[in-house]
Amino acid sequence: MAVSLILVHPVLSSGARPTSRKPKCHEGERSALLEFKRAFFNKSSCRFYDYPMTANLESWQAAEGEGGDCCAWDGVECDDETGCVIGLDLEISCLQGPISSNASLFRLVHLRRLNLAYNDFKSSRIPSAIGNLRELTSLVLSESSFRGQIPREVLNLTNLSFLDLSYNNGLELKSPSLENLLRSLTKLEGLDLSDVSMSSPLPDAIADLSNLTSLVLVNCSLRGELPVATFELPRLKTLDVSDNENLSIRMPEFRRGNPLKSLSLSGTRCSGQLPSSLGNLSSLIKLDITRCELSGVIPSSVGELLVRLTHLDLRSNKLSGEIPSSLMNLTKVNYFDLSYNRLTGRIQPQISGLTSVVELDLSHNRLEGPMPSTISGLKNLRVLALDTLKWIDLSYNGISEQVPRWMLNVSTKNLVHLNLSNNSLTGFSSYPVEFKWANLQTLDLRYNRMEGPLPLPLRSISFYLASNNKLRGQIQPAICQLNSIQILDLASNELSGVLPSCLSNLSSTLWTLSLHGNRFYGRIPQLQKEACKLKMVDLSDNQFEGLLPRGLRKCVGLELLNLGNNRITDTFPSQLGSLPNLKKPQNNHQHFPKLRIIDLSMNNFSGGLPSKYFDFWNAMKFTKTDEMVYYADSIFQPNVHKSSFGDYDYSMKIFNKGIETKYNKILEYLTVIDLSSNGFVGEIPSSIGSLTELHLLNLSHNTINGSIPSSLRNLTKLKALDLSRNELTGKIPPELTQLTSLEFFDVSNNHLSGPIPREKQFNTFENGSYAGNFRLCGAPLTKKCNDLKALPPPPSNGVSVKEEPRTWIKELNWKVVLMGFASGSVIGVVVGLNYTVRIERWFVNEFCQGKQRRRRWHRRRRRRVV
Ligand SMILES: *[C@@H]1O[C@H](CO)[C@@H](O)[C@H](O)[C@H]1NC(C)=O
Ligand SMILES: *[C@@H]1O[C@H](CO)[C@@H](O)[C@H](O)[C@H]1NC(C)=O
Ligand SMILES: *[C@@H]1O[C@H](CO)[C@@H](O)[C@H](O)[C@H]1NC(C)=O
Ligand SMILES: *[C@@H]1O[C@H](CO)[C@@H](O)[C@H](O)[C@H]1NC(C)=O
Ligand SMILES: *[C@@H]1O[C@H](CO)[C@@H](O)[C@H](O)[C@H]1NC(C)=O
Ligand SMILES: *[C@@H]1O[C@H](CO)[C@@H](O)[C@H](O)[C@H]1NC(C)=O
Ligand SMILES: *[C@@H]1O[C@H](CO)[C@@H](O)[C@H](O)[C@H]1NC(C)=O
Ligand SMILES: *[C@@H]1O[C@H](CO)[C@@H](O)[C@H](O)[C@H]1NC(C)=O
Ligand SMILES: *[C@@H]1O[C@H](CO)[C@@H](O)[C@H](O)[C@H]1NC(C)=O
Ligand SMILES: *[C@@H]1O[C@H](CO)[C@@H](O)[C@H](O)[C@H]1NC(C)=O
Ligand SMILES: *[C@@H]1O[C@H](CO)[C@@H](O)[C@H](O)[C@H]1NC(C)=O
Repeated sequence: MAVSLILVHPVLSSGARPTSRKPKCHEGERSALLEFKRAFFNKSSCRFYDYPMTANLESWQAAEGEGGDCCAWDGVECDDETGCVIGLDLEISCLQGPISSNASLFRLVHLRRLNLAYNDFKSSRIPSAIGNLRELTSLVLSESSFRGQIPREVLNLTNLSFLDLSYNNGLELKSPSLENLLRSLTKLEGLDLSDVSMSSPLPDAIADLSNLTSLVLVNCSLRGELPVATFELPRLKTLDVSDNENLSIRMPEFRRGNPLKSLSLSGTRCSGQLPSSLGNLSSLIKLDITRCELSGVIPSSVGELLVRLTHLDLRSNKLSGEIPSSLMNLTKVNYFDLSYNRLTGRIQPQISGLTSVVELDLSHNRLEGPMPSTISGLKNLRVLALDTLKWIDLSYNGISEQVPRWMLNVSTKNLVHLNLSNNSLTGFSSYPVEFKWANLQTLDLRYNRMEGPLPLPLRSISFYLASNNKLRGQIQPAICQLNSIQILDLASNELSGVLPSCLSNLSSTLWTLSLHGNRFYGRIPQLQKEACKLKMVDLSDNQFEGLLPRGLRKCVGLELLNLGNNRITDTFPSQLGSLPNLKKPQNNHQHFPKLRIIDLSMNNFSGGLPSKYFDFWNAMKFTKTDEMVYYADSIFQPNVHKSSFGDYDYSMKIFNKGIETKYNKILEYLTVIDLSSNGFVGEIPSSIGSLTELHLLNLSHNTINGSIPSSLRNLTKLKALDLSRNELTGKIPPELTQLTSLEFFDVSNNHLSGPIPREKQFNTFENGSYAGNFRLCGAPLTKKCNDLKALPPPPSNGVSVKEEPRTWIKELNWKVVLMGFASGSVIGVVVGLNYTVRIERWFVNEFCQGKQRRRRWHRRRRRRVV
């Protein structure tokens, strides 16, 4: 039980001393502090390494003398007259351990200010002895791992004017309730209960807190209607009730003289229109109403906040109409985000009036027309004014015509991210394009109508995405100077010529190279030097010829290799991974241990199948996790996890004979081998049975002979198996009936014989799966097995039915298999048809994460300022 010290403090014989001399601290309080230090201070357990300690308890010394006066200790404040400890500021002080009411801290009954934020009390409840500290005016216990119901005794702290219990580890305010709290603590000026779970409405009693200047109730599971009186509190400067998904808010009429500086209603049921009386909030600095249901137009009076507003974020609402030109008068705004709305009209030339803007996001609207380029006399303003701009996203609008010349002059020093994708831009105003963005890392021009030669950004570029345009001409060797490039996506253009042989210069940074669907020809150059970071290489659907580059085997991180539909003439095993190392099976790193998708279809590969490789392709053998890990996450964002914003729309498009099928999201464990339509010879190695994660195996249209290995039964995840149009002999192994996932099976046009297995999946395959094997018998064929002896002998080697063209039906069958994937939550991809890979939205995602991080940081900073 709390022990109250009886402190006697007659103004200690002060008559004998100079009156300026402050009294020393009281022995009882000194020992209480030392005991508290002993119990909780542990320097090796600091939670916030990145911040310095606010108070260093190492200065708290037991000895008499200088170190003994606790009033001089770090973080301790004493009353000048009485010498009583009246303030303890122990934020970020490496305090840790469960705390209860017997802690010596609660003997400091004269405390007026107590701050224990950013420590770690290990999910303790807030001790009820807090009620002993009756003189408290300020109590800050944020982010210190308190848990459970807030004790009733807090209601006794009736002199509190600041209370911050935010961001703890599951605090609750149910009994007592928020209403009890507001009715007891009538002197509150600042209240922050973010992350405290309440499951109640905000009570009308809020209207009585006439001195409230800051009310922050983020993520408190508030429900019901926000009382209009909240907006009318006479001194309220900060109102933040974000992330209360069940809290209904209707925007009130704001009166002139309203002192609000910061208004945050994001992630609530805030609906209706923005009132034009917003213009009366002449003190407003920050307006943050995202992820709500706001509709209607943005009132032009928002532009009247010009004087002070620095942060305008109305992202993810249903706002429509044009962006009022008055908004371009917001000269102090540095964050301007109207993305994910339904705004229409053009981007006005006056946008250059946003002279302080650092982040500008108008993406995902219905804007249209050219980029404003007609601004005369703006040259200086533009360059000077937007000098700090770092991030521009104008994607997913209807912006047309050319990228205006002046755009290239915008923020040449600071721009990091430029996204112009998914518009109707036709190109740049002059060629060669002279980019001046010395620090640009992301340039996204995808899905436009850009013609002309490929523009080359400067060396700072990490992600250059220009796919799905109409770019022409060759890739200039100058591209080899982009020594920071990580992703180069030029797929689906009209680029041609031979690839520059210096491409290997990029291999120490490049991990995605997509040149699919162009008109490149000639030999594929070396893509690697000593180092090779490549994870994904897609050169499919071009006219490459000759041999594969030998050095690819150094790219041990390769996960996806698509060379489909070219004219490559090579043998498989002895080339791709070749080599001496094959004899050292313990050294897996030489054989594409991560390979998941390999497509060499429709080329002129020859030679035997890569028997030994199958033992090394580990990624096809082990499922890493049962979770649904999307391929995109692992390939494109190795270190970043999904956030609640945006989505990774990493999709593959399968294109064949005019039919296009798109698949969003590919599961990581999907594994594919497609070696179809080549000149492979020899037998199917039985080691293929070790690739137990294989989903799709296509060896059709080759000259493979021998029998079907029964080890295929181990491929229990196989969805599609195509061995058609080869020279296979022998029986269909009855063990294949164990492949219960099999949805597509084709062994037609071989020399197989004997009875067709009839069990499980095999009951579903039809005649076509077996056609052209004259010695097969049994259902679904009409031939009975006893009739076999009457049949002619198999045709001799080499004389096969291979000449017959691939039929549509066949490819459609493949598609049907795919549809099968698509209809469930599992979505797959077959190769053997050509595909392109699109990376979408992940930059936005990354950006949002940046926003979240920043938000958290601001939160901390704000708290420290308070
Ligand atoms: C101090 O913290 C470290 C790291 O959390 C822990 O290992 C150690 O046991 C703690 N010491 C005491 C005395 O609690
Ligand atoms: C305080 O109480 C806890 C149990 O609530 C006990 O474990 C601890 O030893 C007590 N500490 C002191 C100093 O009495
Ligand atoms: C509360 O504050 C008032 C005025 O500041 C003071 O007179 C009173 O003693 C305080 N109450 C307590 C319990 O400290
Ligand atoms: C808290 O206040 C209630 C009345 O509001 C009173 O009955 C109780 O004794 C007080 N508790 C303490 C510890 O002062
Ligand atoms: C509000 O603050 C004023 C002075 O700042 C004070 O006189 C008044 O008592 C306070 N009102 C309440 C309800 O605490
Ligand atoms: C909201 O608060 C609860 C605790 O009440 C916490 O578990 C949850 O993580 C918080 N949500 C967010 C998005 O911070
Ligand atoms: C919001 O209301 C729904 C439906 O009543 C409920 O399932 C959900 O948990 C509520 N959310 C919060 C944060 O309380
Ligand atoms: C500002 O508030 C006054 C009332 O104080 C109101 O008459 C006026 O319409 C408001 N201004 C705007 C732009 O709504
Ligand atoms: C923008 O501000 C200028 C002067 O500061 C003013 O003349 C103009 O009317 C304002 N534009 C709008 C659309 O409010
Ligand atoms: C861009 O800036 C250069 C100087 O760096 C200047 O010569 C040129 O006129 C500017 N172009 C436009 C369109 O503003
Ligand atoms: C197939 O699995 C069986 C046991 O399930 C195992 O003995 C055999 O070695 C496997 N075959 C291959 C080729 O991995």
